[in-house]
Amino acid sequence: MPKTTKGVEAAYDKAAPLYNLMNHIYFFAKDKRFRSMLVERLNPKPGDTVLDICCGTGLNFPFLLQKVKIRGTLLGVDLSSEMLQQAKRKAESEGVNLVRSDAAHLAFRDRTFDATLVSFCLKVTPTYEKAIEEAARVLKPAGRIGVLGNHKPSGPLRFLGIILTKVLSAMAKIDYEVNLKEQLSRKFRIIEDKKMYGGLVQSLVGGKTSNHLPTVNRDD
Ligand SMILES: C[S@@+](CC[C@H](N)C(=O)[O-])C[C@H]1O[C@@H](n2cnc3c(N)ncnc32)[C@H](O)[C@@H]1O
Repeated sequence: MPKTTKGVEAAYDKAAPLYNLMNHIYFFAKDKRFRSMLVERLNPKPGDTVLDICCGTGLNFPFLLQKVKIRGTLLGVDLSSEMLQQAKRKAESEGVNLVRSDAAHLAFRDRTFDATLVSFCLKVTPTYEKAIEEAARVLKPAGRIGVLGNHKPSGPLRFLGIILTKVLSAMAKIDYEVNLKEQLSRKFRIIEDKKMYGGLVQSLVGGKTSNHLPTVNRDD
């Protein structure tokens, strides 16, 4: 059966109470490193306005806040009210604004944000193409996007990858066939493409404006 936005919302509403624990177990707490590295590469400045698209329970917030909290604004959007409910405790005390919204229809004006980040969501949402277009629309001309996504490993972890792919596709609605780099490059110049965690995670950084810097391809 084709995946629908409603189905994804219902799945994450259900998963919300256990999401942080599952994330912790799957990544052995290493996700903190990916998140922090991606935020470093995005490099938001104090005072910037940053959007965390599909923010879930807010696991990126601590890293983003470290960068923008002096005069800056951090907004998180997500489709699932239960995921946002989990994010709320952290968000309220830190002054993060949360909005329930579909990433494919963002209620923000063009060129509002200095940076945006989408972690572990583009392979989840059936409307990923529209979500990328929306991210480009709301970013300022010099803005950057950071993306993290699950990735099928090659090499020695290939067999583990096949098992994980099957389990996560069913449980977390992840579509491993979506090629993040290809999709992102429709709207962004790819600045960095990096595989981490034995190739199970891909990290991409894109810039809205074009210049002549080549893409950096790196594997950890
Ligand atoms: C795997 S979780 C990732 C959450 C968070 N970004 C993280 O890194 O932990 C995927 C999230 O994407 C959200 N999501 C999926 N499709 C969405 C859409 N079209 N618009 C907004 N949020 C969406 C889900 O509700 C869920 O919170």
